[in-house]
Amino acid sequence: MTRIFSGVKPTGHLTLGNYLGAVHRWVQVDQHRADALFCVVDLHALTVEHDPGRVRRLSRQAATLLLAAGLDPAVCTVFVQSHVDEHARLSYLMECTATDGEMRRMIQYKEKAAREQQRGGSVRLSLLTYPALMAADILAYQADEVPVGDDQTQHVELTRDLAVRFNQRYGHTFTVPKAVNPSVAARVMDLQDPTCKMGKSHAATAGIVYLLDEPDVVRRKVMRAVTDSGIEMAYEPGTRPGVANLLDILAACTGTSPRDLAEGYDSYGALKKDTAEAVVELLRPLRERHAQLCADPGEVDRVLREGAERARALARPTVDAAYAAVGLLPAL
Ligand code: TRP
Repeated sequence: MTRIFSGVKPTGHLTLGNYLGAVHRWVQVDQHRADALFCVVDLHALTVEHDPGRVRRLSRQAATLLLAAGLDPAVCTVFVQSHVDEHARLSYLMECTATDGEMRRMIQYKEKAAREQQRGGSVRLSLLTYPALMAADILAYQADEVPVGDDQTQHVELTRDLAVRFNQRYGHTFTVPKAVNPSVAARVMDLQDPTCKMGKSHAATAGIVYLLDEPDVVRRKVMRAVTDSGIEMAYEPGTRPGVANLLDILAACTGTSPRDLAEGYDSYGALKKDTAEAVVELLRPLRERHAQLCADPGEVDRVLREGAERARALARPTVDAAYAAVGLLPAL
């Protein structure tokens, strides 16, 4: 059976972009078609300046939201990265497999490090070695597929290179995984800046719909979305990204095509109104289930404990084999 691994980094509240771009597919398709692991990758949240209390809250919230969205612990494994030591153990071996140049070539590292330096801050070493930990996340589970947004493709490519290199040097140890990108239609853009992805770590929040936003907040953000000055309704992502984004969101919520939807509207106002209502309805059951889970914290604890146990049992033999393969004396 195909094994899938993916991760959510608890650096911000989960957004409609995370949901429509990734989580929705994990729930509807991936957890049923494969042996799937979904991980709150909390160690990755420590690669930039962080507030301990916030990381703790966001990790718990992300796990709760994944369950509220419909990940079913009876068919998939939901767990927190730091609960399974194998990630950090294998990350070190990945650092011994990768090169300094390889790490420095990562686009995300270059961008984030430059931003950090501009602000006069310092760059944590773990920001550079981040892809080693990400490779460990994936390889420890012998994952075949890694569903990620296209901003993570380069990291998965590096993971493949490291798996191949490790196998060549030390004997076959790891499955060589591949990235699978979700369909383009589910790519949700910022409502205020539709050329830029709706990301959870952005500072400006007016263009971001969070999964736990109150319905009125959702309506306000959608109604204030930036549109373009075209007169006729048309689906043209390249030239009219604002309207295309609304059409994409409405299409994703209603399971239709954005092009067909465009024909049914003659004003932006009507499109915004319907999109706002569709998003509110999409999020309603999720918010309700989230509230139920928050009222029963023991249930989330139990799911995460069992998820970590399952994950540990899967990862342990692979990481032990990797330790032995590189020449480390087995602990008896
Ligand atoms: N780097 C990913 C992101 O920023 C999160 C992540 C960490 C991840 N480890 C992973 C995703 C392993 C997929 C598989 O979104």
